[in-house]
Amino acid sequence: MLYLLDTANIEEIRKCSEVFPLAGVTTNPSIISKEKKDFFSIIKDIKSIIGDKMLHAQVIGETESEIIKDAETLREKIDGNLYVKFPVTLEGYKAMKALKLRGFKITATAIYTPQQALLAANCGADYTAPYVNRIDNISGMGVHVVSMITELFKHHNLETKVLAASFKNVQQVHEVAVAGCQSVTIAPDIMWKLAEHPLTDMSVAQFTKDWENIYGKDKKIYNL
Ligand code: G3P
Repeated sequence: MLYLLDTANIEEIRKCSEVFPLAGVTTNPSIISKEKKDFFSIIKDIKSIIGDKMLHAQVIGETESEIIKDAETLREKIDGNLYVKFPVTLEGYKAMKALKLRGFKITATAIYTPQQALLAANCGADYTAPYVNRIDNISGMGVHVVSMITELFKHHNLETKVLAASFKNVQQVHEVAVAGCQSVTIAPDIMWKLAEHPLTDMSVAQFTKDWENIYGKDKKIYNL
């Protein structure tokens, strides 16, 4: 499964990149706005950390022509491994179809139902992003929606991948992974929680204590 980081915070991206096997970063207008900085300088900073890993950046325009102009500008100003994110509005589907023909790499976002994902896949989306926690908040069973989309893509031999998004806890991430979802985008606080466990730290503390009792403090294998 591919792990992407759902943030535009440079410090978080730097810290998480050091530890985790990240496949890229995803942003959206809300995430970008939290940083209160010039849009393209945020993008430049993110790229300086992630290099040619995937960067998913979202259009703002609402009509097909505005969306297309946003996408063209993103592609013109951001080199490398760029995926343009299109919300699955009616205008968004139109823009995806048009831009797929022009070789854009496409992420369909703000997905709440399996049929939206299937339509987006048929419009040429490379990734589809269902919003797990937001679906849970309307009692829509976010993990089940992700599971159905994953099955639909398999069933219809589509190469489009599921990039599950909007997580508020580790269990949601775990369950979409079990459902066969190919990729997830996770905010840093959940990413750290996925990795850590207090019993792991306790086990390591015991290993160190036992070792030091015999070999001495500050002795590692390299300086015996
Ligand atoms: O990538 C989409 C995601 O950012 C939405 O997440 O946490 O705002 O529901 P959230």
